[in-house]
Amino acid sequence: MAWEGILRALWIFLPAYVANMAPVFVAKLIPGWNSPIDGGRIGKDGHRILGDGKTWRGFAGGALMAGAMALFLAVLAPGPSAIPSPSPFDGWGFAMHGYEAGSHIGTSTFCETPGCRTLVESSPLQVFLFGAIVGFMALVGDAVKSYFKRRRGKEGGAPWFPFDQLDFVVFGLLGFMIASPLLPAGWVWHALTDDWVILATLFILTPALHLLVNRIGYWLGLKKVPW
Ligand code: CTP
Ligand code: MG
Repeated sequence: MAWEGILRALWIFLPAYVANMAPVFVAKLIPGWNSPIDGGRIGKDGHRILGDGKTWRGFAGGALMAGAMALFLAVLAPGPSAIPSPSPFDGWGFAMHGYEAGSHIGTSTFCETPGCRTLVESSPLQVFLFGAIVGFMALVGDAVKSYFKRRRGKEGGAPWFPFDQLDFVVFGLLGFMIASPLLPAGWVWHALTDDWVILATLFILTPALHLLVNRIGYWLGLKKVPW
């Protein structure tokens, strides 16, 4: 079902979405801690390296909140035994309630008897770190985007479609890969590729959601610009 794939894509990618939104909230909470990552430096082209919009505060807050979000999602997610489907793959909870390794990585060494199930679990700490790395990478993407945005002479806060919308998707996915050894072997790969709808949702639906969320943030007075 396409709906299941769309929901699962948004669910497992929530840590990256949270990381991307977190800096705006953290900026409101701790306005004083605003030292920019580029230290105010200006490039040869006369523009800032990254700009005042990329702070250490944003990175710290984003990574922490993404880690907390992943843990929260894992706690809420159903485990394999609770899913009445032929595939008990825990595609929602970062394998914290168990992941049936044997049937997915194509080995019989886990299971000797037919029909037996060997579950591998990730610990809460592993899930937290997984989310934090995904969030950190999402913000690295955001900063890399800003670097190229400045080189094109666009000032901080100016719109740059679709790069503003997709920077954290590409780098968030990179974070999934980098952090994959924290979770049972095969989990990340299956979570992202078992259904083509997952990646399609992330690339097609995210820009629309991003524009919507930023407009809401602007109405609420959290963001200076509506994009
Ligand atoms: N922010 C931050 N640290 C980060 C990312 C974002 O403090 N690493 C905060 C800044 O206050 C920033 C706001 O979140 O202004 C909105 O983030 P974003 O839209 O990514 O930054 P812009 O100011 O639009 O800058 P750019 O044009 O470089 O994207
Ligand atoms: Mg922006």
